[in-house]
Amino acid sequence: MKEVTLTPLSVPLSGQLQVPGDKSISHRAVILGSLAEGTTNITNFLTGEDCMRTVHAFRQFGVSIEQNGSSLKINSSGPASFKEPLAPLYFGNSGTTARLMLGVLAGLPFFTSVYGDVSLAARPMDRVISPLKKLGAWFDGRAGGSRLPMAVRGGNLEGIHYTLPVKSAQVKSAVLLAGLFAEGVTEVIEETPSRNHSENMLQAFGADITEKNHHIRITNHKSLKATDVDVPGDISSAAFFMAAAAIVPGSKLTLTNVGLNDSRTGIIDVLQEMGASVAISNKQVTGGEAYGDVTISSQKLKGVVIKGDIIPRLIDEIPVIALVATQAEGETVIRDATELRLKETDRIKAVTDGLTRLGANVKPTEDGMIIKGITALTGGRVKAYHDHRIAMMHAVASFITKENVIIDDISSIAVSYPDFFEHLNRVTNKN
Ligand code: S3P
Repeated sequence: MKEVTLTPLSVPLSGQLQVPGDKSISHRAVILGSLAEGTTNITNFLTGEDCMRTVHAFRQFGVSIEQNGSSLKINSSGPASFKEPLAPLYFGNSGTTARLMLGVLAGLPFFTSVYGDVSLAARPMDRVISPLKKLGAWFDGRAGGSRLPMAVRGGNLEGIHYTLPVKSAQVKSAVLLAGLFAEGVTEVIEETPSRNHSENMLQAFGADITEKNHHIRITNHKSLKATDVDVPGDISSAAFFMAAAAIVPGSKLTLTNVGLNDSRTGIIDVLQEMGASVAISNKQVTGGEAYGDVTISSQKLKGVVIKGDIIPRLIDEIPVIALVATQAEGETVIRDATELRLKETDRIKAVTDGLTRLGANVKPTEDGMIIKGITALTGGRVKAYHDHRIAMMHAVASFITKENVIIDDISSIAVSYPDFFEHLNRVTNKN
C-alpha cells in the first residue's frame, strides 16, 4: 500500500507534456512483433507493468525481446519456434494481456497455464473462452472454466463466424489473433465499433485482413512480416491532463503526440460538447494510427448526456469525465456503460463512492451514473480500489478541492503511467 496526501492546487496548468505510449497499441506491438518472423523495433513503448506482462509471456516462449528504455527490439522466428513454457504465465492486473494472450494461446499447439492478481482473477474470461472453444482450443479454469487461473491446450483451429455479444475490443482481438492460426476464414461481426488497433496493426504486419460493414475477416497466413512500430501517446493517459486543464480555471495545456484514432477520441467529443476548448494540431498517421497535438483550455462547462455508440470510444475515460461533470453546470447522465462494472474494479461503484466522499452530487445507476454540477469539492480520504484510473482520477480531483485528498494506495498507477506524478508536478510547476 502506498498512501499519498495531495494538497489543492493554487495555480493553473500550463505548458506542454508528452504522455507515455498507448497501452493498447504497446500490447499489440509486442504480440505481433513476437508472432512475426524477423526483427521488430518498437519505439515509445509503454513500459508500465501491464505491457511488461505481455513482454514476459513471450520471453517464456523463448522470443528474444531486448529493452532499452522505451524501445524494444524483438527477434523472433515466428510461432513455430515457440517453446511450451515451463512455468505458468503471470498476467498481473492486465486484462488486455489476459484476453489477447488467450487468443494467441488458442493457436499454439501446446499446454500453458495462466494466472493473474486478485482483480484479474475476478474478471470474466468466458467472453473470450467461448469463441476460442468454437475455434477448437481447449480451456479449463476456475469458476466452471470462466476465471483465471486457467489452463489452455491450443492448436488445430478452424475459422468461425462470430457476432460479438459484448462491445469489447479485447474479445474481438482475441478471436482475430486466434484466426491467424485457424484453417480458412475467421470472421468477427461487431455491431458497435470498438478500438481497431488490432486490425490496423495486423494489416501493417501483412496479415490477410479486411473490414466491411462491421464484418472483419482474417485468413490464416503462414507468416507475419516484422514491421517497426512507433507507438503514439496514450489518449487514455492524456485524458487525465485534458480533464485537469478543463476544470482548473485559467489553464492551457498542450499534450503532444497523442493517439487520435477515431475509435478512441470520444473524450475529445465530450469535452467539446461540455464547452471546453480543445484544438488539434500537427495531425499525422503512423501504422494506420492517427496522432497529433491536443491543446485544451478551461472554459465554463455544461452537463451532457453520454450514451450509446460513443461509450466504447471513451470507456476508460469515464472516471475522469465524471470528475469533469462535477464542475459542469446542470446534469450529466452516463448510460449504456455496464461494462464499467467489469474493469479492474467496479468503476461505477468506485467513481460514485469516491466523488461522493469528496463532496460531489453523484448517483450510481445500473449502467452508469448521474452527476449534478456544479459542486465545490471538499477533499477527504478516498480509495483507489487498486485501479490505476480511479487513483489518477482522484489525484486530478485534488487540483480543485478545498482541503487535501488522501488516496489510500497509488501503487496501481504503475500499470499504465509510471511517471504520472512527475508529469503532474511538471504541468503544475510543483518542482
Ligand atoms: C482494451 C479494450 C477495452 C479497454 C481496455 C483496453 C484493449 O476493454 O477498456 O483498457 O486494449 O483492447 P474491453 O475490450 O473489455 O472493452
